[in-house]
Amino acid sequence: NKIPTIKNESVKDFCFKDEKDWDLLRAAITKFSDETLAIPLVINGQKVYRTETKTQVNPAKHGQILADVSQATAEDIQAAIAAAKAAKKQWAATPWTDRAAVFLKAADLISTKYRYDMLAATMLGQGKNVYQAEIDSVAELIDFFKFNTKYAEELYASQPAETSPGVWNRAEYRPLEGFVYAVTPFNFTAIAANLVGAPALMGNTVVWKPSATAALSNYLLLTILEEAGLPAGVINFIPGDPVEVTDLVVNDSEFAALHFTGSTDVFKGLYSKISNNVAADKYRDFPRIVGETGGKNFHLIHPSASLEHSVLSSLRGAYEYQGQKCSALSRLYVPESLWPRFKEEFVGAMSQIQIGNTSSTDSLNFFMGPVIHEQSFDKLAAAIEQAKSDPELTIVQGGSYDKTNGFYVQPTLIQTSNPEHEFLKREFFGPVLTTYVYPDAKYEQIIDSIDKVNKYGLTGSVFARDRSAIRLAEEKLRYSAGNFYINDKCTGAVVGQQWFGGARASGTNDKAGSGNILTRFVSVRNVKENF
Ligand code: ALA
Repeated sequence: NKIPTIKNESVKDFCFKDEKDWDLLRAAITKFSDETLAIPLVINGQKVYRTETKTQVNPAKHGQILADVSQATAEDIQAAIAAAKAAKKQWAATPWTDRAAVFLKAADLISTKYRYDMLAATMLGQGKNVYQAEIDSVAELIDFFKFNTKYAEELYASQPAETSPGVWNRAEYRPLEGFVYAVTPFNFTAIAANLVGAPALMGNTVVWKPSATAALSNYLLLTILEEAGLPAGVINFIPGDPVEVTDLVVNDSEFAALHFTGSTDVFKGLYSKISNNVAADKYRDFPRIVGETGGKNFHLIHPSASLEHSVLSSLRGAYEYQGQKCSALSRLYVPESLWPRFKEEFVGAMSQIQIGNTSSTDSLNFFMGPVIHEQSFDKLAAAIEQAKSDPELTIVQGGSYDKTNGFYVQPTLIQTSNPEHEFLKREFFGPVLTTYVYPDAKYEQIIDSIDKVNKYGLTGSVFARDRSAIRLAEEKLRYSAGNFYINDKCTGAVVGQQWFGGARASGTNDKAGSGNILTRFVSVRNVKENF
């Protein structure tokens, strides 16, 4: 084996144990807070600044502008596509171990040199507390870069097993013919890294449209990749108007793949544009479409479950990172027999939750921060108001919000009397959890309802000690979650351990953090040689 042994990056323990860590982190936060960074486009390795910019504000303190992000013009988008095409030949011809070295070195630089910068950029820009930033922008990101190289090694080594006398069969893993378009989300810096990193590792070049609300951390990541030796043109960074960028990119005849994480609706729009172009013979290949989209993720609590464990897991699943993980818990099914105690403990724990300013250098020790932006805040506030007037909904706890300084929404628990209520179907992407309390005798019916009530299939958990209850849920909810957990919360998939991604309206079920994703970015040629 050429790739060094890979282990999951350990998560640094920020518990005021080591003042030095805190000092370094505070210094990084101060550095990014003190100035408004001008973020350029990066096309063919060149920084391009434009007068048309979009500001990235601090969601915890929206009066603070963190970055002025240059917006790509139509010419810039065409230039980025041209740069990706021009860089392709040489990058594809680069030995894969040299490509791997870029990502291994970037992982190393983040671990040793840029850890605090990555944390600060993610905390400030994306509203994460230090723990959420550490598990995302450091640990998971490093894991993606490292594990992808291990999976690439395995894939390249995978060859036809059968042969006949005098015949040599070989599989050749070609990069796709064309370039890859990566559309990346705000909620995980690590996901953005994987969306650009996985195709690039396999010898593809990339046009990258980052999320406007993650430009700071994403641009920092690009500069780290450059320091690690990424050649010009391999990844071209073009923040801009999503529709304009997308239309120009997917209308190019050499568009070869979409690597996407974002909302189901945006993905559907992209899918149909690409399909129309396929029908019109616009492309040489059928583009690969890889998408991870929405979810309406569930916890099913069985009467035999550990109360304490299911309460704590549900609290973490629903409210960590303000419920803005694609995997976050948003519908909770509790049996009547457990409900009084469950409710008491859950509400008690909710009232202990501290909401903090994720950009403050005074205290970094709190559980929740702001939601990402005003549209999200307004959507959540509207849902809470709807809950106040809907006779089928009761706000059990929470229900307040305030955007005077930052976009703060209290953790909110809503109970519904209707197992088919639209609050059990609609994704809110925030700290609003809906619960339905079911009669214990109707465990099997509630499983059927979990499966049928909405269109998604991302994550879900069953909590039970009774093995037959676990088995029933596991069998009947086979397609309800691409990541199914038994006695664990439905968030927090670890690269290499829990392969991540769902089917149905949650995406194409390609698994991030596994070797499967890499197969989507190669085109396999079989070579048979007769001796
Ligand atoms: N992969 C992330 C999780 O599982 C989204 O929480």
